[in-house]
Amino acid sequence: MAKKIVSDLNVKGKKVLIRVDFNVPMKDGVITDDTRIRAALPTIEYVINHGGKAIVFSHLGRIKEEADLKKNDITPVAKRLEELIKKPVKFVNATRGKELEDAAKNLKEGEILMFQNTRYEDLDGKKESKNDPELGKYWASLGDVFVNDAFGTAHRAAASNVGIAANVSETAAGFLLEKEIKYIGGAVDNPVRPYIAILGGSKVSDKIGVIEALLQKADKVLIGGAMMFTFLKAMGKNIGTSRCEDDKLDLANELLQKANGKLVLPVDAVVNKAFEDVKGVVKSVDDFADDDMGLDIGPKTLELFAKELAGAKTVVWNGPMGVFEMKNYAAGTIGVCELLANLKDANTIIGGGDSAAAAESLGYADKMSHISTGGGASLEYLEGKELPGITCVDNI
Ligand code: 3PG
Repeated sequence: MAKKIVSDLNVKGKKVLIRVDFNVPMKDGVITDDTRIRAALPTIEYVINHGGKAIVFSHLGRIKEEADLKKNDITPVAKRLEELIKKPVKFVNATRGKELEDAAKNLKEGEILMFQNTRYEDLDGKKESKNDPELGKYWASLGDVFVNDAFGTAHRAAASNVGIAANVSETAAGFLLEKEIKYIGGAVDNPVRPYIAILGGSKVSDKIGVIEALLQKADKVLIGGAMMFTFLKAMGKNIGTSRCEDDKLDLANELLQKANGKLVLPVDAVVNKAFEDVKGVVKSVDDFADDDMGLDIGPKTLELFAKELAGAKTVVWNGPMGVFEMKNYAAGTIGVCELLANLKDANTIIGGGDSAAAAESLGYADKMSHISTGGGASLEYLEGKELPGITCVDNI
């Protein structure tokens, strides 16, 4: 069902509550990747350029005890937003109270207000994360309409998304959420075929749900990353000292049975004797020695993947193919980036997290149709689960 979008709202003169996901990586109070802030700019800009009064808020990190407050102070994020949007951002260092209420009330058309990390409320009985009904109602009372643009948090039912939506007259999706729905939702509900999924990363256990769902939906599921070794061992191959989830061998076997030939496993790998960034040796997956550790997919596997991907119209990729942070084991992940970048007329969708970071750091970001800003959210969405942060947006 089509969702109401921010551009369907009349925002002029209205206080527009905008939930964004500014849960950005930080080191010593400095933002190390501002992709999520940049991704939300079109929505905030739309609101202020159409005479709306933008009240922007997000969670940052997880708050369990007093000591987490300082670590997850969102002030640097408000400053970064100000730099990126090139407009003043008023900041209230609280999640409730008179100062916040007055700031919201006195906001003028075209102005932006941001308040403190919504999860500061978690210190007191996890009010934000457990969707405390009073909190959602309170935040809703600060504005007139609600725009949810926080895809990264859409798999969580929190006071700052579903709680607010339950207490305002109108809830719309921001442009980022709209894009995530278009691409990931499109692949889930109505993929243009052939539809190929590529899954990597280290653990099968993290991706059981998504593998099962993709085996139903996709035409082929290509496997790389350390998780390949759990499958290869389940098939009876010697994987040497490669990373493996021994307690998931039965499950891997079950998935192989269910797959009906849809699972495509690597035929070679780059191996080494230790986990260090030195040149490895390419070996067939049938020729591992007992002390070989597989750290990347090999060139024959890339050729195999290229054949499987030829003519694909929808490709979803989640998880790197090897230890791409080490230059000697980045070739598989770079190779997959290249294969996707060279596909003609295909929707290429990269799940958030490590594969998004890989595509970005390796310089392929602008060659993909869509790079998701959600990690857990994009996996759950691909699994076909209902995401509360999407469900709470009005249908049109
Ligand atoms: C994310 O980074 O995946 C989202 O912001 C959700 O964060 P959370 O896992 O702490 O809820």
